[in-house]
Amino acid sequence: MQTATIHGIEMGYRAEGDGAPLLLVHGFPLSGAMWQPQISALSARYRVIAPDLRGFGASTFGGGADSLDQYADDLLALLDHLDVRKVALAGLSMGGYIAFALLRRAADRVSALVLADTKAAADSDEARQKREQNARMVETRGLEPLADQMLPNLLADRTPQGQQQVVRGIIMANQPEGIAAALRAMAQRPDSTPQLSAINVPTLIMVGSEDTLTPPGEARKLHEAIKGSQFVELSGAAHLSNIEAPAAFNAAVDSFLGGNSTRAYGAGSQSSGRW
Ligand code: MLT
Repeated sequence: MQTATIHGIEMGYRAEGDGAPLLLVHGFPLSGAMWQPQISALSARYRVIAPDLRGFGASTFGGGADSLDQYADDLLALLDHLDVRKVALAGLSMGGYIAFALLRRAADRVSALVLADTKAAADSDEARQKREQNARMVETRGLEPLADQMLPNLLADRTPQGQQQVVRGIIMANQPEGIAAALRAMAQRPDSTPQLSAINVPTLIMVGSEDTLTPPGEARKLHEAIKGSQFVELSGAAHLSNIEAPAAFNAAVDSFLGGNSTRAYGAGSQSSGRW
Protein backbone atom coordinates (compact mmCIF):
# COMPACT_ATOMS: atom_id res chain seq x y z
CA MET A 1 0.00 0.00 0.00
CA GLN A 2 1.30 3.42 -0.92
CA THR A 3 0.00 6.80 0.19
CA ALA A 4 -0.19 10.26 -1.31
CA THR A 5 -1.38 13.57 0.12
CA ILE A 6 -4.40 14.49 -1.98
CA HIS A 7 -6.67 17.46 -1.26
CA GLY A 8 -5.74 17.41 2.44
CA ILE A 9 -6.18 13.67 3.00
CA GLU A 10 -3.70 10.81 3.05
CA MET A 11 -4.92 8.60 0.25
CA GLY A 12 -3.99 4.91 0.29
CA TYR A 13 -3.62 3.21 -3.06
CA ARG A 14 -2.17 0.13 -4.69
CA ALA A 15 -0.21 0.63 -7.93
CA GLU A 16 1.26 -2.45 -9.55
CA GLY A 17 2.55 -3.30 -13.02
CA ASP A 18 4.04 -1.28 -15.84
CA GLY A 19 1.67 -1.32 -18.79
CA ALA A 20 -1.07 1.07 -19.83
CA PRO A 21 -2.78 2.53 -16.74
CA LEU A 22 -6.01 0.98 -15.47
CA LEU A 23 -7.77 2.78 -12.61
CA LEU A 24 -10.10 0.58 -10.54
CA VAL A 25 -12.76 2.36 -8.47
CA HIS A 26 -14.26 0.29 -5.68
CA GLY A 27 -17.87 -0.28 -4.71
CA PHE A 28 -19.69 0.39 -1.44
CA PRO A 29 -19.02 -0.40 1.40
CA LEU A 30 -15.68 -1.88 0.36
CA SER A 31 -12.25 -0.44 -0.48
CA GLY A 32 -9.53 -0.88 -3.08
CA ALA A 33 -8.79 -4.22 -1.39
CA MET A 34 -11.77 -5.70 -3.26
CA TRP A 35 -9.71 -5.51 -6.45
CA GLN A 36 -7.00 -7.94 -5.30
CA PRO A 37 -8.05 -10.64 -7.83
CA GLN A 38 -7.66 -8.06 -10.62
CA ILE A 39 -4.42 -6.56 -9.28
CA SER A 40 -2.83 -10.03 -9.04
CA ALA A 41 -3.75 -11.04 -12.59
CA LEU A 42 -3.90 -7.82 -14.60
CA SER A 43 -0.74 -6.15 -13.26
CA ALA A 44 1.19 -8.53 -15.55
CA ARG A 45 -0.05 -6.41 -18.48
CA TYR A 46 -1.30 -3.10 -17.08
CA ARG A 47 -0.34 -0.52 -14.51
CA VAL A 48 -3.21 -1.26 -12.16
CA ILE A 49 -4.09 1.56 -9.74
CA ALA A 50 -6.60 0.75 -7.00
CA PRO A 51 -7.14 3.55 -4.49
CA ASP A 52 -9.18 3.64 -1.30
CA LEU A 53 -11.66 6.52 -1.54
CA ARG A 54 -11.59 9.05 1.31
CA GLY A 55 -12.93 7.53 4.53
CA PHE A 56 -12.46 3.99 3.18
CA GLY A 57 -9.67 1.51 3.91
CA ALA A 58 -6.34 3.23 4.44
CA SER A 59 -7.46 6.69 3.28
CA THR A 60 -8.17 9.31 5.89
CA PHE A 61 -11.63 10.85 6.16
CA GLY A 62 -10.75 14.55 5.87
CA GLY A 63 -14.33 15.59 6.50
CA GLY A 64 -15.62 13.10 3.98
CA ALA A 65 -17.20 13.71 0.61
CA ASP A 66 -20.31 15.83 0.30
CA SER A 67 -20.92 14.53 -3.20
CA LEU A 68 -19.51 11.88 -5.51
CA ASP A 69 -17.73 14.71 -7.34
CA GLN A 70 -15.31 14.93 -4.40
CA TYR A 71 -14.24 11.32 -4.91
CA ALA A 72 -13.85 11.97 -8.64
CA ASP A 73 -11.72 15.04 -7.93
CA ASP A 74 -9.56 13.02 -5.52
CA LEU A 75 -9.03 10.37 -8.22
CA LEU A 76 -8.04 12.98 -10.79
CA ALA A 77 -5.56 14.49 -8.31
CA LEU A 78 -4.14 11.02 -7.61
CA LEU A 79 -3.60 10.54 -11.36
CA ASP A 80 -1.83 13.92 -11.47
CA HIS A 81 0.32 12.82 -8.54
CA LEU A 82 1.22 9.62 -10.42
CA ASP A 83 1.88 11.58 -13.62
CA VAL A 84 -0.82 9.65 -15.44
CA ARG A 85 -2.70 11.68 -18.03
CA LYS A 86 -5.16 9.14 -19.44
CA VAL A 87 -6.52 5.92 -18.00
CA ALA A 88 -8.78 3.04 -18.71
CA LEU A 89 -11.36 3.64 -15.98
CA ALA A 90 -13.21 0.76 -14.34
CA GLY A 91 -15.82 1.15 -11.62
CA LEU A 92 -18.00 -1.38 -9.87
CA SER A 93 -21.37 -0.22 -8.56
CA MET A 94 -20.64 2.99 -6.58
CA GLY A 95 -17.36 2.97 -8.51
CA GLY A 96 -19.47 3.22 -11.67
CA TYR A 97 -21.44 6.16 -10.24
CA ILE A 98 -18.09 7.84 -9.54
CA ALA A 99 -16.89 7.01 -13.05
CA PHE A 100 -19.89 8.96 -14.40
CA ALA A 101 -18.93 11.89 -12.13
CA LEU A 102 -15.33 11.74 -13.35
CA LEU A 103 -16.48 11.69 -16.98
CA ARG A 104 -18.62 14.78 -16.34
CA ARG A 105 -15.53 16.59 -15.03
CA ALA A 106 -12.71 15.29 -17.21
CA ALA A 107 -13.81 13.01 -20.04
CA ASP A 108 -10.51 13.79 -21.77
CA ARG A 109 -8.65 11.79 -19.08
CA VAL A 110 -10.47 8.54 -19.94
CA SER A 111 -9.38 6.28 -22.81
CA ALA A 112 -11.74 3.36 -22.14
CA LEU A 113 -14.49 2.58 -19.68
CA VAL A 114 -15.50 -0.57 -17.79
CA LEU A 115 -18.81 -0.40 -15.93
CA ALA A 116 -19.40 -3.40 -13.69
CA ASP A 117 -22.58 -4.12 -11.71
CA THR A 118 -23.71 -0.52 -11.84
CA LYS A 119 -26.48 1.66 -13.21
CA ALA A 120 -27.08 5.18 -14.44
CA ALA A 121 -30.31 6.00 -12.58
CA ALA A 122 -30.42 8.17 -9.47
CA ASP A 123 -31.94 6.91 -6.20
CA SER A 124 -35.68 6.81 -5.66
CA ASP A 125 -37.03 8.75 -2.66
CA GLU A 126 -37.41 5.46 -0.83
CA ALA A 127 -33.78 4.51 -1.53
CA ARG A 128 -32.64 7.93 -0.28
CA GLN A 129 -34.52 7.46 2.97
CA LYS A 130 -32.99 4.02 3.43
CA ARG A 131 -29.52 5.47 2.88
CA GLU A 132 -30.10 8.11 5.56
CA GLN A 133 -31.34 5.41 7.97
CA ASN A 134 -28.23 3.37 7.24
CA ALA A 135 -25.96 6.40 7.67
CA ARG A 136 -27.46 6.98 11.13
CA MET A 137 -27.22 3.30 11.98
CA VAL A 138 -23.53 3.25 11.12
CA GLU A 139 -22.88 6.48 13.04
CA THR A 140 -24.50 5.08 16.16
CA ARG A 141 -23.82 1.33 15.98
CA GLY A 142 -20.76 0.98 13.77
CA LEU A 143 -20.26 -1.15 10.68
CA GLU A 144 -21.31 -4.62 11.85
CA PRO A 145 -25.07 -4.24 11.26
CA LEU A 146 -24.40 -2.79 7.79
CA ALA A 147 -22.13 -5.72 6.94
CA ASP A 148 -24.83 -8.17 8.15
CA GLN A 149 -27.46 -6.40 6.08
CA MET A 150 -25.42 -6.06 2.90
CA LEU A 151 -23.38 -9.26 2.62
CA PRO A 152 -26.28 -11.45 1.46
CA ASN A 153 -26.87 -8.99 -1.40
CA LEU A 154 -23.24 -8.53 -2.34
CA LEU A 155 -22.37 -12.19 -2.80
CA ALA A 156 -24.28 -15.23 -4.04
CA ASP A 157 -25.33 -17.70 -1.31
CA ARG A 158 -22.98 -20.36 -2.59
CA THR A 159 -19.93 -18.10 -2.25
CA PRO A 160 -17.53 -19.99 0.02
CA GLN A 161 -17.46 -18.92 3.65
CA GLY A 162 -13.79 -18.02 3.42
CA GLN A 163 -14.47 -15.53 0.66
CA GLN A 164 -17.47 -14.10 2.54
CA GLN A 165 -15.20 -13.54 5.53
CA VAL A 166 -12.64 -11.73 3.39
CA VAL A 167 -15.35 -9.38 2.12
CA ARG A 168 -16.67 -8.84 5.66
CA GLY A 169 -13.13 -7.98 6.75
CA ILE A 170 -12.82 -5.38 3.97
CA ILE A 171 -16.11 -3.79 5.05
CA MET A 172 -15.14 -3.77 8.74
CA ALA A 173 -11.79 -2.09 8.01
CA ASN A 174 -13.61 1.07 6.89
CA GLN A 175 -14.35 4.15 8.96
CA PRO A 176 -18.01 4.56 10.00
CA GLU A 177 -17.97 8.28 9.24
CA GLY A 178 -16.55 7.61 5.76
CA ILE A 179 -19.31 5.09 5.10
CA ALA A 180 -22.02 7.47 6.34
CA ALA A 181 -20.65 10.24 4.09
CA ALA A 182 -20.65 7.91 1.08
CA LEU A 183 -24.27 6.92 1.72
CA ARG A 184 -25.30 10.58 1.75
CA ALA A 185 -23.20 11.36 -1.32
CA MET A 186 -24.76 8.46 -3.27
CA ALA A 187 -28.25 9.61 -2.24
CA GLN A 188 -27.61 12.98 -3.87
CA ARG A 189 -26.13 11.75 -7.09
CA PRO A 190 -27.82 12.90 -10.29
CA ASP A 191 -29.31 10.64 -12.92
CA SER A 192 -26.45 9.86 -15.31
CA THR A 193 -28.76 8.59 -18.09
CA PRO A 194 -28.63 11.83 -20.11
CA GLN A 195 -24.85 11.64 -20.44
CA LEU A 196 -24.72 8.06 -21.73
CA SER A 197 -25.25 8.92 -25.40
CA ALA A 198 -22.23 11.27 -25.25
CA ILE A 199 -19.81 8.57 -24.07
CA ASN A 200 -17.50 8.07 -27.01
CA VAL A 201 -14.74 5.87 -25.65
CA PRO A 202 -14.74 2.06 -25.94
CA THR A 203 -16.95 0.75 -23.16
CA LEU A 204 -17.38 -2.67 -21.60
CA ILE A 205 -20.42 -3.36 -19.45
CA MET A 206 -20.35 -6.35 -17.13
CA VAL A 207 -22.85 -7.74 -14.67
CA GLY A 208 -23.30 -10.83 -12.55
CA SER A 209 -26.28 -12.83 -13.79
CA GLU A 210 -27.55 -12.97 -10.19
CA ASP A 211 -26.94 -9.38 -9.21
CA THR A 212 -30.03 -8.16 -7.37
CA LEU A 213 -28.65 -4.74 -6.35
CA THR A 214 -27.90 -3.58 -9.90
CA PRO A 215 -29.57 -6.32 -11.96
CA PRO A 216 -28.72 -7.36 -15.52
CA GLY A 217 -31.68 -5.28 -16.76
CA GLU A 218 -29.92 -2.11 -15.56
CA ALA A 219 -26.69 -3.17 -17.27
CA ARG A 220 -28.57 -3.80 -20.50
CA LYS A 221 -29.95 -0.27 -20.35
CA LEU A 222 -26.35 1.00 -20.20
CA HIS A 223 -25.41 -1.24 -23.11
CA GLU A 224 -28.29 0.07 -25.21
CA ALA A 225 -27.53 3.72 -24.43
CA ILE A 226 -23.72 3.67 -24.86
CA LYS A 227 -22.87 3.47 -28.55
CA GLY A 228 -20.77 0.46 -29.54
CA SER A 229 -20.49 -0.85 -25.99
CA GLN A 230 -19.72 -4.49 -25.28
CA PHE A 231 -21.84 -6.47 -22.85
CA VAL A 232 -20.74 -9.44 -20.76
CA GLU A 233 -22.96 -11.26 -18.26
CA LEU A 234 -20.98 -13.29 -15.72
CA SER A 235 -22.86 -16.46 -15.06
CA GLY A 236 -23.56 -17.34 -11.45
CA ALA A 237 -22.05 -14.18 -9.97
CA ALA A 238 -24.08 -11.76 -7.86
CA HIS A 239 -23.08 -8.11 -7.20
CA LEU A 240 -19.33 -8.44 -6.56
CA SER A 241 -18.75 -10.17 -9.87
CA ASN A 242 -15.02 -9.33 -9.88
CA ILE A 243 -14.62 -11.44 -6.73
CA GLU A 244 -17.11 -14.17 -7.54
CA ALA A 245 -16.06 -14.78 -11.14
CA PRO A 246 -12.50 -13.40 -11.17
CA ALA A 247 -11.18 -15.44 -14.08
CA ALA A 248 -14.06 -14.51 -16.40
CA PHE A 249 -14.00 -10.89 -15.19
CA ASN A 250 -10.25 -10.54 -15.77
CA ALA A 251 -10.35 -12.23 -19.15
CA ALA A 252 -13.19 -9.94 -20.29
CA VAL A 253 -11.29 -6.83 -19.18
CA ASP A 254 -8.06 -8.00 -20.79
CA SER A 255 -9.70 -8.96 -24.04
CA PHE A 256 -11.57 -5.63 -24.10
CA LEU A 257 -8.45 -3.58 -23.40
CA GLY A 258 -6.61 -5.33 -26.16
CA GLY A 259 -4.40 -7.74 -24.27
CA ASN A 260 -6.30 -10.79 -25.46
CA SER A 261 -4.19 -12.99 -23.26
CA THR A 262 -4.50 -16.69 -23.79
CA ARG A 263 -3.30 -17.57 -20.33
CA ALA A 264 -5.81 -18.57 -17.69
CA TYR A 265 -6.88 -15.92 -15.22
CA GLY A 266 -7.46 -17.54 -11.89
CA ALA A 267 -7.70 -16.19 -8.41
CA GLY A 268 -6.24 -19.02 -6.42
CA SER A 269 -8.27 -20.97 -3.95
CA GLN A 270 -11.89 -19.94 -3.71
CA SER A 271 -12.35 -21.25 -0.19
CA SER A 272 -9.26 -20.44 1.80
CA GLY A 273 -10.32 -16.93 2.75
CA ARG A 274 -7.32 -15.57 0.84
CA TRP A 275 -7.08 -14.52 -2.76
C1 MLT B 1 -22.17 -0.70 -4.27
O1 MLT B 1 -21.89 -1.90 -4.39
O2 MLT B 1 -21.34 0.17 -4.53
C2 MLT B 1 -23.52 -0.33 -3.76
O3 MLT B 1 -24.35 -1.44 -3.69
C3 MLT B 1 -24.12 0.74 -4.59
C4 MLT B 1 -25.40 1.27 -4.04
O4 MLT B 1 -25.66 1.12 -2.82
O5 MLT B 1 -26.16 1.88 -4.80
